[in-house]
Amino acid sequence: MNTVPGQRPRRLRRTAAMRRLVAETRLAPADLVLPLFVREGITDPTPIDAMPGVMQHSVRSLLPAARAAVAAGVGGLILFGIPLRKDARGSAADDPDGIVQVALRALREDLGDTCVLMADLCLCEYTDHGHCGILTARGSVDNDTTLERYAAIAAAQAEAGAHVVAPSGMMDGQVRAIRQGLDSAGFSETAILAYAAKYASAFYGPFREAADCAPSFGDRAGYQQDPANGREALREVALDIAEGADAVMVKPAMSYLDIVFRVAQAVDVPVAAYQVSGEYAMIEAAAARGWLDRERVITETLLSVRRAGADLVLTYWALEAARRLQEG
Ligand code: PBG
Repeated sequence: MNTVPGQRPRRLRRTAAMRRLVAETRLAPADLVLPLFVREGITDPTPIDAMPGVMQHSVRSLLPAARAAVAAGVGGLILFGIPLRKDARGSAADDPDGIVQVALRALREDLGDTCVLMADLCLCEYTDHGHCGILTARGSVDNDTTLERYAAIAAAQAEAGAHVVAPSGMMDGQVRAIRQGLDSAGFSETAILAYAAKYASAFYGPFREAADCAPSFGDRAGYQQDPANGREALREVALDIAEGADAVMVKPAMSYLDIVFRVAQAVDVPVAAYQVSGEYAMIEAAAARGWLDRERVITETLLSVRRAGADLVLTYWALEAARRLQEG
């Protein structure tokens, strides 16, 4: 035997019960957040081609989907809206009768405080040009005009029943503007989960079909982070916390586990990671061809995100994974 005397790490791996006892990381349904898409003007749910198993919901079909998630113990839901009409300033985003506000009201009335209702806060689903903010005459995104829109959207979402607003536009100063907007509208109890380190990622591809929000020209590299940078994420996170973020997010998850780890080491607020549409799509596609063991891979990815340091994980598999965890 060539080991250090007495040291046999395999002793702790012998049985499933032993492995369970000594597991360093655990997954629980309550750690998972399910993203839901709600589309104005449809009656039946519409499948999303590049995200098999994920739907664009109508307000009617959204309720049973949300209830199922709550019944499985999922910790939170995050809503994305797809409006019927888009314009340059994304008017539907803060319209009290806009699709997300209508859906939030219906969900809050039905679910009360039994799970955490979050609303993604951005303009890209609502603007006719598909960018996350208001454009200047020369076609670049104007940071400070956009902040005024974000503050108004936050108030509309809070008023409709969101417990948490989650700004994902990566404008400078967005958390401060939203905090001030919420406080001055009387919503000082509404929390902010900041998409603090959000990268300009090709892994968002399928989402742009799901939320109908591909930019009509250019890309988002002028506001989202460069995948080459890690230290910059710490700066973004520190700014967001200083501006009043209650929790911070890293996005995407799998290609950015080093960022999740560094952020989790650096901060004392909850850290979320978003397992995005492309991460979902590539695993579903490989599994459909029989190239991967789907369930094991899903569990392994979720565990890895938690192990890197994320407290919560946004994932399109939230319902399925929660059910599996509930069954034990
Ligand atoms: C909107 C937003 C995007 C995602 C979440 N919020 C798209 C983007 O920034 O282009 C991506 C989510 C996913 O891919 O699952 N700002």
